[in-house]
Amino acid sequence: MEDNTENNIIQMPRIGDQAPEFTAKTTKGDITLSSFAKDKWIVMFSHPADFTPVCTTEMSGFALRKGEFEALNTELLGLSIDSIHAHLGWVNNVRNNTGVYFDFPIIADLDMKVSKLYGMLQPNESETAAVRAVFFIDPKKKVRLIMYYPLNVGRNMDEILRALEALQTSDKYSVAMPLDWKKGDKVIVPPPKTLKEMEERLADDTIERVDFYLAKKELVG
Ligand code: BEZ
Repeated sequence: MEDNTENNIIQMPRIGDQAPEFTAKTTKGDITLSSFAKDKWIVMFSHPADFTPVCTTEMSGFALRKGEFEALNTELLGLSIDSIHAHLGWVNNVRNNTGVYFDFPIIADLDMKVSKLYGMLQPNESETAAVRAVFFIDPKKKVRLIMYYPLNVGRNMDEILRALEALQTSDKYSVAMPLDWKKGDKVIVPPPKTLKEMEERLADDTIERVDFYLAKKELVG
């Protein structure tokens, strides 16, 4: 996205958009979005500030559950508008205090380039810190799901992982995910598009059907 302001409204990436390209300094060296492996998902998340309590719990949550993201073929990428020096001090401080190590890149977005590009700065919430955003970016670098939380409410790691797995399962099986779906639950089969398909759906006894437009099935394989 080049010109991201129009009538003073920040143009944020939306679901389905190509994730805006950037290069940034991180705790693991410089990174460019397009250089991430072509077969990986990316969960990119911002936090308001290093050395703050809610952020420490959230970043520890990402660190402790990094293996679950890896199992879902997903790289973690943090961001705040703090410096590399602050990030390193915080990572070391949390490790010394709790034994939890933030072993994923954290962008030092001092010039706010990336946070502006992704609409993470929401001035009516804070003029000096990024809100708690989560961008789910698929292997084609398309934005697939966005979460925004305010400064005073931490995110839910179970929900972040659930949403990631729901997206991937939906893609893999061309199905949709109902309320509160989690791995192992039935999934929604796409509604029929023609009368013929509707009649077939109504005659199908292998699915759990409320009506032709609402039916669920088990996933096999
Ligand atoms: C926190 O992480 O605790 C926090 C950060 C910025 C503003 C308010 C709370």
